[in-house]
Amino acid sequence: MPATVIIGTQWGDEGKGKIVDLLAEQADLAVRYQGGHNAGHTIIADGEQFALKLIPSGVLTPKVTPVIGNGLVIDPSVLIAEMEHLEARGVSCQRLLISSAAHLIFPYHVELDILREKERGGAKIGTTQSGIGPAYEDKAARVGMRMEDLLDPQRFEAQLAANLNEKMAIFKAKFHSVAFTLESILNTYLGEYRLKLEPYISDTVNFVHDSLDLGKEVLLEGAQATYLDMDHGTYPFVTSSNPVAGSIGAGAGIGPKSVTKVIGVVKAYTTRVGGGPFPAELPSGDIADHLVDVGGEYGTNTKRRRRVGWLDVPMVKHATRLNSISELAVTKLDVLTGIEKLKVCVSYQVNGKTSTAFPVMQRDFAVAEPVYVELSGWEKQLSRVRKRQELPAEAVTYLEFLEDSVGVPIHYVGTGPSREDIVLL
Ligand code: IMP
Repeated sequence: MPATVIIGTQWGDEGKGKIVDLLAEQADLAVRYQGGHNAGHTIIADGEQFALKLIPSGVLTPKVTPVIGNGLVIDPSVLIAEMEHLEARGVSCQRLLISSAAHLIFPYHVELDILREKERGGAKIGTTQSGIGPAYEDKAARVGMRMEDLLDPQRFEAQLAANLNEKMAIFKAKFHSVAFTLESILNTYLGEYRLKLEPYISDTVNFVHDSLDLGKEVLLEGAQATYLDMDHGTYPFVTSSNPVAGSIGAGAGIGPKSVTKVIGVVKAYTTRVGGGPFPAELPSGDIADHLVDVGGEYGTNTKRRRRVGWLDVPMVKHATRLNSISELAVTKLDVLTGIEKLKVCVSYQVNGKTSTAFPVMQRDFAVAEPVYVELSGWEKQLSRVRKRQELPAEAVTYLEFLEDSVGVPIHYVGTGPSREDIVLL
């Protein structure tokens, strides 16, 4: 029963899509288990760039069945647009399966996301404003609506009317105008959306288990990352789901015994979008601009410039604990080419005390000062590098430093944006 989980060890955008795409060659199923279209996975395959939000990256490999698990929140307009976009570029979505228990995002979730961020002012989370948080709120409040409800118009209308009533009272109290009505939502969801999505709605849990029983390879694609996890991340600057590997039970119905590998994806430096503490963040200047420009550090969906900083070892190490990571994939090593001295955060000063452990108390993390070691950089461009022996000695030292500090072996090193730019260790 070989299931592999792929999980980001930082604040997202580590380049998980590329690793999934690589592993998809040996996989039969690619399963998403949480999040929604707040995710953005960029993959460059055969010179073509794909930016995926909801559909598992494995869709680009024809023999893989892409599965959207029950743990997701789905905006049907985004999903349909993504399917149509892929089909138009020759990528078939025929094999796609969508869990009947995945939740729906409605226009009022998006409006609430926008409204709440506005109200937070300077303390805003910096959400993707795609309705993710409000949709998960409804799920926890047990008034959420699921894919299967699209197939039951009577139930759909009754629950939608009740939900909309409550949301409209909030919009009214806040003088927030909205551009939708019960009728318009009913027409779109039970009309176009139901028509397009019904053929894909299914029992994904038993499909995945039957596949595992047949010895098929299952890849579980975590979206966002460990430090955006709403329990283990830098709360409240987190997403509203649990990206950690253990969440595959809740979000895809797979128990821990089925998992044989957990791959932690580490970007060779650190980035973050949105608000929240970031001890190893670089001040604006040449090195920050280098990382942003060379690394293309702009949101796949939101196009926001990402905050950038040095590699933070205690974060990656704590992520290996939280996720039972068995091997690491380091991405974007090539982006560091040309930086003379590379800093790596190895511990923090917290209220006068040095700690090598990630400060779990957020009031400590908020004031943590990074303690760095300095390693030599390199000049060689890495995009043609395919073998360990071709890596500059300084790059090998950088990787070995990370490996030794974290105590988990590195199996993959990304040396450029394309599918082929990878060194297998
Ligand atoms: P939300 O998921 O849209 O509610 O946003 C909550 C926080 O998670 C914000 O700081 C977002 O920028 C961040 N976030 C959500 N999805 C991603 C992602 O895929 N990559 C990086 N950050 C993300």
